[in-house]
Amino acid sequence: MAIKMLTLEDLELGGKRVFLRVDINTPIHPETGALMERARLEEAAMTVRDLPKSRVVVASHQGRVGRPDYTSLEAHAKALGEILGREVAFVPDVFGPEALSQIDSLQDGEVLMLDNLRFTAEENQEYKPDEAEKSHLIRRLGGHVDACVLDAFSTAHRASPTIIGFAGLVPTCAGRTVGRELRMLDRIATVEKGPYVTVLGGAKVNDRLEAIDALIANGRADSVLLSGVVGLVFLKAAGKLRGDIGVDKEQAFVVRARRLMDDDPDRFVLPLDVAVKAEGGRKEVEPSQIASAAQVLDIGSKSVDRFSRYIKGAGTVFMSGPAGAFEWEEFSLGTEGLLRAMASSLGTTIISGGHLSTALRKYGINDQIDHVSTAGGALVQYLAGKRLPLIDALERAAERWGRSQHEPLKQQEAA
Ligand code: 3PG
Repeated sequence: MAIKMLTLEDLELGGKRVFLRVDINTPIHPETGALMERARLEEAAMTVRDLPKSRVVVASHQGRVGRPDYTSLEAHAKALGEILGREVAFVPDVFGPEALSQIDSLQDGEVLMLDNLRFTAEENQEYKPDEAEKSHLIRRLGGHVDACVLDAFSTAHRASPTIIGFAGLVPTCAGRTVGRELRMLDRIATVEKGPYVTVLGGAKVNDRLEAIDALIANGRADSVLLSGVVGLVFLKAAGKLRGDIGVDKEQAFVVRARRLMDDDPDRFVLPLDVAVKAEGGRKEVEPSQIASAAQVLDIGSKSVDRFSRYIKGAGTVFMSGPAGAFEWEEFSLGTEGLLRAMASSLGTTIISGGHLSTALRKYGINDQIDHVSTAGGALVQYLAGKRLPLIDALERAAERWGRSQHEPLKQQEAA
């Protein structure tokens, strides 16, 4: 898919205040509050490094309102500073006087991180581009930045103000992560073939159900292998699990899952066994044998074998979300087993999400996968052929600020 967008090389960004919208939304340890991995921070660092003479304002969201991972970005600023080996200042403010004054005081080569963008009401909503431009968030920040670099590929599916609101206001281009993702996905699109196998796990059930709908509609999911919490929802819908799973809107999800399986019974492959915590560690049982789904922390070995056969026989295989609580050694068997099957598959392999990219590195097999992306929902929607708001914004910006053959950069007009 040819996307017309500007890159860092197309704009003169030295000495400019650059709003760098990244996605460093990271799993947070529920007890200690520590960042559990750094995959997205390392990606963000690539673009910061390539803006050595700019006054860089790094901005991201973290978590969702009301969830335990809805936190400040202070620890992220410290971690980014460690990765870059230079200071990343942090301001506990998004668009108030403190944030604006610190942006204005930035010197060439300095980096400032704003606090969690979702601390503002507007960033939690989706807008049309002209509405986003008029939001308080963009109007206030817009007067204090000279350019915008969009690098939040993993948030490309959210039409929030900082994703779509700057493109018509200041010269806007893609950062390194967006460039890398689109290049790799373009390359994959030229070689991929069926059968298409989708392997979904993790806890974001709504996102997974949407992904299934989108991937099926686009012919990208001949077989759908399910694990994690989403696997439990399907097991419950299939009448193979007693008790509640304990997720919001559980009943509605179960009904949706039931409908999907009724429409297409052969497409869905569910776990044959699951692992629960027992005296002495892990115990594998059939789903019908457990009293409560809340005890389930992984899929069992029979499920890993079954899923692996599908993965190895795939023409193209896409995996998103871990099979279980792989952070704990005794519950990593499912996630590790499926990732190793991906690594030895002869098909084209795509792995999505920060959790899995961290796990791949831990097992030392990341270079055996064709494309490893830290994006989750955004990547699914891209693969399903949907238009993504961030990419639309980059295309609008290329139209508005791009260099035509005889014209100087429109950035200069705006200055
Ligand atoms: C993600 O992790 O997929 C992105 O950061 C988007 O987060 P969201 O699903 O909370 O919008």
